[in-house]
Amino acid sequence: MNILVLGSGGREHAIAWTLAKSPKCDKLFVAPGNGGTAGFAQNVALVATDPNAVLAFAQEHAIDLVVIGPEAPLVAGVADALRAAGIPTFGPDAEGAQLEGSKTFCKEFMIRNGLPTADYLSTTDADEAHAYINKMGAPIVVKADGLAAGKGVVVAATADEAHEAVDSCFDGAFGEAGNTVVIEECLTGPECSMLAFVTAGHAYCMAPSQDHKRVGEGDTGPNTGGMGAYSPVPIVTDDELARMQQVMADAAAATAREFAHDYRGVLYGGFMLTPNGPKLLEYNARFGDPETQVVLPRLESDLVDVMLAVAEGRAQDIALDWADKWAITVVLASEGYPRAYEKGKMITGIEEADALPDVKVFHAGTALNEAGDLVTAGGRVLNVTALGATFEEARNRAYEACDKIHFEGKQLRRDIGHRVLNA
Ligand code: AMP
Ligand code: GLY
Repeated sequence: MNILVLGSGGREHAIAWTLAKSPKCDKLFVAPGNGGTAGFAQNVALVATDPNAVLAFAQEHAIDLVVIGPEAPLVAGVADALRAAGIPTFGPDAEGAQLEGSKTFCKEFMIRNGLPTADYLSTTDADEAHAYINKMGAPIVVKADGLAAGKGVVVAATADEAHEAVDSCFDGAFGEAGNTVVIEECLTGPECSMLAFVTAGHAYCMAPSQDHKRVGEGDTGPNTGGMGAYSPVPIVTDDELARMQQVMADAAAATAREFAHDYRGVLYGGFMLTPNGPKLLEYNARFGDPETQVVLPRLESDLVDVMLAVAEGRAQDIALDWADKWAITVVLASEGYPRAYEKGKMITGIEEADALPDVKVFHAGTALNEAGDLVTAGGRVLNVTALGATFEEARNRAYEACDKIHFEGKQLRRDIGHRVLNA
C-alpha cells in the first residue's frame, strides 16, 4: 500500500515509524515531515491544510490511505475532499473536527449527550462574560473558543486575572479564535489522556497516558505543547478507567447519531480525575502529542490494518493488542521554549541514543540544513522514548539516552512520571 501521512511533529514521526513496521506498507510519504521522517520515508513539500493540493498529490501517487496528524488540516476539510474522491482517509471530516475547532461546539455536544464536564458559559458579549465571573468567583478558567495552538486557556486564580483574560481575548489576542469566549468552572485533580480509534459509532480505546504540560519541573511555569508523557497511568483506578472508556463509547455513538458523516479517526478525551469522577476538559480530533510517542510503541497490532479499518468504517475488524511494558517519552526543547527561541543549532548523539536497547528517538522540530547536517527547527526538538519492564527501567533508559544527545540550549524536565515515583 502507498500511504501519505500529513504533519511534521514527533507525533507524525511516531505514526509514520509505526506504519513503516507493517509488511503492508510499501511507499510512505510524509508531508511536510521532518529530519527524522526523511530517514525512512519520502518527505513531500505540500501545504497540508490545502485540500486540493493534498487530493492532487494523493491521486497522482496512487495513495491507498491518508493519515491526517494535526488538527488544522482536519478543520480545513482535507478529509472531506479526500473522501469525496474515494480515498480512504484516517481523520474526521470538518464537522467532526469541530469538536476540537470550537470549544462551544464541543461543550454543547458533551452536555447534550450527558458526558461529564465542567459547568460553563459561552458568549460573544463582554458584559455577560464579566458578570458570569462575578457570579461564579475564582478560581475560574477562561478559554478562546477556536484553535489557539494550546495557548488560548487561562486558569485564573483570581477574578481580576479572569476579567483580564476575557478582555485580552475580546481584544484579539487569539485573532478570530477569541471572538467567542468560554468560561468554565475550575476542576481539580490529575489529568489523563484517553485516545480512542473511532469509526461507525464505535470507540476502541488505547492505553491511557499522561502528559506534562508545564515547562518546569514540579509542574511549574507556563503551559507548553507537552514536555513528556508516559503510559500506562497507575494512578488511574479500575473504576476511573471503566468510566473513561464508557464516556468515549458514548461519545462515539453520539458522533454516529449527530454528524452528517461517520467520524473516522482518533477521538482524544482530555480528562481530569476529579474527586467526583473523571470529567472531560476537552476533546481533540486527532492523536495527542507527545502521548502518541508512548502509546504507539506499546501497540502490537498492525497499525496499517487498524487505520484502514477505521478509514473504511469496518469497526468489527479492529483489534488492539498492547505490550505489557511501560513507555516514557522526554521532550528535548530549545532554550527559551515556550517563549521565543533560536533555530538552526547542530544536533549530535542521536545514533548513540537510538542504539540503546528499547530506545527510540522521535524527531519533533528538526530539519536538515543546506550542508546536510541535522539542526533544530522548532520549540520541541526531539522526543526521547524508551520502553521497559518496569517504569524505573523505562525512565532510566530514557534519561540515559537524553544525556547522549547534544545541542546548544537543550532544555528538558528531569521529572517526567514523578506521579508514578511519588505514588
Ligand atoms: P484545554 O486546551 O482545554 O485542554 O486546556 C489546557 C489545560 O488547561 C488543560 O490541560 C488543563 O491543565 C487546564 N484546564 C482546562 N480546563 C480546565 C478546567 N475546567 N479546570 C481546570 N483546569 C483546566
Ligand atoms: N498533549 C496535548 C495535546 O496533544 O493536545
